[in-house]
Amino acid sequence: MNSELILAIESSCDDTAVAVLRGTKVLSNITASQAIHADYGGVVPELASRSHQQNIVPVLLKALSQANIRQNDLNAIAVTRGPGLLGSLLVGLSFAKSLSLSLTIPLIEVNHLQAHILAHFIEGANENGAPEFPFLCLTVSGGHTLLVIVRDFFDIEIIGSTLDDAAGEALDKIGKLLGLDYPAGAEIDRLARCGNPLAFRYNRPKIEGFNFSFSGIKTSVLYSLNKEKQNNPDFIQQNLYDICASAQQTILDTLMDKLIQAAEHYKIKNLAIAGGVSANSKLREMLNNLTDYQVFIPEFSYTTDNAAMIGLVGYLKFKRKEFASLDLSAQAKYPLNTI
Ligand code: KG4
Ligand code: ZN
Repeated sequence: MNSELILAIESSCDDTAVAVLRGTKVLSNITASQAIHADYGGVVPELASRSHQQNIVPVLLKALSQANIRQNDLNAIAVTRGPGLLGSLLVGLSFAKSLSLSLTIPLIEVNHLQAHILAHFIEGANENGAPEFPFLCLTVSGGHTLLVIVRDFFDIEIIGSTLDDAAGEALDKIGKLLGLDYPAGAEIDRLARCGNPLAFRYNRPKIEGFNFSFSGIKTSVLYSLNKEKQNNPDFIQQNLYDICASAQQTILDTLMDKLIQAAEHYKIKNLAIAGGVSANSKLREMLNNLTDYQVFIPEFSYTTDNAAMIGLVGYLKFKRKEFASLDLSAQAKYPLNTI
């Protein structure tokens, strides 16, 4: 019970999130999502920064009160340094710096992608327990698609990434073509459950090795919709379930094929998923159906952006005494291989 208390702040995109952890145990994990972007079909950076400004104090107060601790009990502040939207990152980072200064406790910087990958180590994050090293982690979100080998907490090798759109981005763009609100991933997931994944055939990317490409699938869906709408203006409304199921399946098959190829190539039996798209019910089902592998699927609250995952990495860095100085800059681009 004597582990350190870490306050974690995440503001890399459009969610303002604050969590309190005691060691690897989450005491509170609060997120304020920004509905305002739905009107624009994507995240508007300036609006995101302004909303973070408005949200950050109430979210912090709620996180402290739910954890039932006082500011003075905290041992360190962990904060997302990048990658993300610069204006959004700056709100969280400046806030974390001021708090660290006023409470005279260390500041710890966290790479958002490392946090998604290591979210599996949050106590209770996974019904199969935490994965043993080495494991393969498919990290799929709105901004990133990465396949990594995790040999240790701080020994993560990228073996594949997307050459263009991220998997979540492709789902969000396809959703836009279908007239769905941004971000569309969760809605496509829901609609796809009622559809036939074999109803329509969209182009599958043919990329060598373990890299990905998703922009072609979106274009293929666009061309197909344009063609069908010429004959039937109501084509989308009449076939929404099947289009969602078919497009989603094309993306998930690509992800799963690469994951399995990599597992065979590197002879790794532990497979994990992370990031917003790992909330997808079909992807989770496909993983759970694998018989030759031990699979690790995080609880929903630790898949999409959250501050608990930032706190987990913060705690690991606290143990290593890896503290940041107060002149730390935010990094809009912050590749995983620089940690
Ligand atoms: O990790 P995340 O919250 O933010 C980024 O770091 O990007 O991921 C957001 C992405 C969005 O593209 C969203 O459409 C997708 O995750 N997403 C889903 C689901 N829930 C969120 N995609 C597929 N199925 C879902 N259930
Ligand atoms: Zn994320």
